[in-house]
Amino acid sequence: MGIVGAGPAGLTLARLLERAGIESVVLEDRTREHVEHRTRAGVLEHGTVDLLRDVGVGERLDREGIVHRGIHLQFAGARHHVPLAELAGGRGIVIYGQTEVVKDLIAARLESGHPLLFEVADVRLAGVETDRPRILFVHAGAQRELECDVVAGCDGFHGITRGSIPSELLRVYEREYPYGWLGILAAVAPSIDELVYAHHERGFALLSLRSPELSRYYIQCAPDEDADAWEDAHIWEELRRRTALDGWELEEGPILEKGVTGMRSFVADPMRHGRLFLVGDAAHIVPPTGAKGLNLAVADARTLAEALVEWYAGRGTAGLDAYSETCLRRVWRAEHFSYWMTSMLHRNGDDPFEEQLQLSQLRYVTSSRAAAASLAENYVGLTTIMA
Ligand code: FAD
Ligand code: DHB
Repeated sequence: MGIVGAGPAGLTLARLLERAGIESVVLEDRTREHVEHRTRAGVLEHGTVDLLRDVGVGERLDREGIVHRGIHLQFAGARHHVPLAELAGGRGIVIYGQTEVVKDLIAARLESGHPLLFEVADVRLAGVETDRPRILFVHAGAQRELECDVVAGCDGFHGITRGSIPSELLRVYEREYPYGWLGILAAVAPSIDELVYAHHERGFALLSLRSPELSRYYIQCAPDEDADAWEDAHIWEELRRRTALDGWELEEGPILEKGVTGMRSFVADPMRHGRLFLVGDAAHIVPPTGAKGLNLAVADARTLAEALVEWYAGRGTAGLDAYSETCLRRVWRAEHFSYWMTSMLHRNGDDPFEEQLQLSQLRYVTSSRAAAASLAENYVGLTTIMA
């Protein structure tokens, strides 16, 4: 197996295959340092946590991960609690940074002695329509070629593997949003017990965390905004205004990192061409409001690993043939949920009609048990996806 990309998708797939005795080579174009310190997701679904435990990388996660059983939705000056676990059969979420998941998976991979190459360059695929696909790349200055049974494209949204699917065979669904998120990591104890998603006339804000000493906060901004143009004091001021609540204070601290992320929905269908299988962000993107991207990447990796195990054991290609459809069913549910959360919470221009719809929806999900349960089961991760 050739695996392009050492993000959550590629590393999880490699680990699952390793446990099943299937050899793989992972090729990553960035440095280990870069991959391990790319601040991104922080919310793990129950199923993601179970899988990481099952593949033997759950020890630090169980020690340092923070279990949350609810979230808050804030709007019109009040904060409303959504008791996720109570509404979703006892299932909650775990706060554990993607950087930490990636560090744990890389450490496990290197310890196992199986190949994981960083800083490869000029990665190209050849022969994905044959039964001997090849990955061509440069490593340590030398041109190399890897012949495989199957190639997994785990190289994220900007990767190269999706480009090996002829455009006439690939249907792409896409939506860009007219806003982005300015995210900060701050060296201060989180001012919140559980995540706060705040609707505000100045724009959305999200209060999250990484540890008892590290806060992770976001504010809605323009998609192309320069993060460095935002003074720290200005960021705190915006966060404070958008999350203000009587009797509650947002603690400030030194900002360690700041960055702007654009928001997009994207699905490539099918996720397979010949012996190439796309996994994670290489095939689909969700806006981050639903906290689904990393969890989808891990779910794809599990589906592909199960199909490969079946195939290598001589039990046929049914799993591989169904791979794209199986994944896309889950993906579209997450696409809808993420789009829905995003549309409910962000300010979109100056449209009073839309604002009233948002407020009505927020009142509904915080007052109807049925509506709250729907949010909760999607947020913690649906265990079964209906056809
Ligand atoms: P990636 O993490 O993008 O990994 C792809 C890897 O491939 C990278 O290491 C890249 O360097 C490598 N690569 C690229 N091109 C090549 C090449 N040509 N050759 C070799 N290697 C290559 N998701 C959640 O579930 N919960 C959240 O709370 C959440 N919050 C988010 C917040 C932010 C601000 C952002 C930006 C994202 C968030 N996400 C969240 C989404 C999540 O981070 C992604 O969905 C996840 O990283 C996808 O994993 P992946 O392995 O598919 O792709
Ligand atoms: C985080 C990111 C998200 O996109 C989200 O919905 C919740 C939390 C985070 O980085 O902690």
